[in-house]
Amino acid sequence: MTQILSPASSLRGTVSLPADKSISHRSAMLSALADGTCRIHNYPQSADPQSTLEVLRGLGVSMRRDDDDVLVIEGVGIDGLRPPDAPLDCGNSGTTMRLMSGILAGQPFGSVLTGDDSLQQRPMKRIADPLKAMGGRVILVDDHAPIRLRPSRDGLSAIKYRLPMASAQVKSCVLLAGLYADGRTTVVEPTRCRDHTERMLGLETHEVGGVREIYVDGGHRIDPRTWTVPGDFSGAAFFMVAASITPDSDILFKNVGLNPSRTALIDVLIDMGADIRVEKERAEGSEPIGDVRVSSAPLEGVSVGGRVIPNLIDEIPVLAVAAACAEGQTVIRDAEELRVKETDRLHAITENLRAMGAQIEERPDGLVIDGNGPNLLGTTVDSFDDHRIAMAMGVAACVAHGETQIRGAECARVSFPSFWGELDRVTTPR
Ligand code: S3P
Repeated sequence: MTQILSPASSLRGTVSLPADKSISHRSAMLSALADGTCRIHNYPQSADPQSTLEVLRGLGVSMRRDDDDVLVIEGVGIDGLRPPDAPLDCGNSGTTMRLMSGILAGQPFGSVLTGDDSLQQRPMKRIADPLKAMGGRVILVDDHAPIRLRPSRDGLSAIKYRLPMASAQVKSCVLLAGLYADGRTTVVEPTRCRDHTERMLGLETHEVGGVREIYVDGGHRIDPRTWTVPGDFSGAAFFMVAASITPDSDILFKNVGLNPSRTALIDVLIDMGADIRVEKERAEGSEPIGDVRVSSAPLEGVSVGGRVIPNLIDEIPVLAVAAACAEGQTVIRDAEELRVKETDRLHAITENLRAMGAQIEERPDGLVIDGNGPNLLGTTVDSFDDHRIAMAMGVAACVAHGETQIRGAECARVSFPSFWGELDRVTTPR
């Protein structure tokens, strides 16, 4: 599908967000492993969280939507999953594949996890290494999926694992495998990344000198409970930038997830001069949430790198759009992980913004963007089959001169199926 967008004169109103993708996956997996019936409010229809449900169904977990559209999952307990009778398809979802690998490495039966072309090109050695160190039997194809998991010979053993990269998927994979290990598994996290798994499992953590350790005991039981998934901060990010760079805009998000390991984009945009106010901060279960209001403001270039990067890793494509519309230079460093996302996002955003006339240079670990105010030109760009690239280009289209065509825009359904409709609804055309 090619999405054709005209420039906007303003964005105004309340944006309805999909539920947070990261928290959705985890709520479904932990519900499936709980000792009884769990309920999940606001479980999204987005393709990635639906892939997780499909995989759990393949492992014998029953679920249904009740009359109030609440997802009810019949937890089977950590030892209650059943052998699948076919490969488990994770679609485009790296979180499904990497977290489920941790769970499946501890099972007394074999399984195969597979996914679409993009997922089969993403690095999986990063999870196979710690799982093998625990005694898991993990077979990859040239370090990629399909992932074959065999029952371990003597069960999994607890390890102390220092994360070689700031990846919440790797961390969560090891913690979930730790449920099945003999003893206490420790994950050492030199650079903090999103912490939903440890929050949702209620795990003990300890921090010394900026290095955090997270502990999970083998056999840890999961009590049945009701989850409410907050609005997706990473989905809100697109509209935060769109409202900042489009004149005369004022956008509100309600009940958006505000976990500090996810919200660094707010701090960076405020450093750039953005007008963002967080209101009604409160807790929703183990996660902080609140309302966020964003109004247009002139932006200036900024320099970002180091420990902040994992806390805005998914927001960098749209941050690049903000930078292209700011005055002055923006430098983004230490973001080489973007090269192994659904596509090489450093390359994809560079190609697209350059096609729209932006001054952007691709570096091995980041980007240098010479912002030129809102001087982008509408043209035809590609989604690279990556939801966050497609939506970032939708934001650029708001301020471009002339029409923008985004090829392959349907991939927004991976995390934000109503994105194009919401953008249209809150936008007044120029
Ligand atoms: C996620 C972790 C991040 C992020 C992804 C979701 C998660 O990936 O980019 O969208 O839910 O744990 P990495 O762990 O590869 O950094």
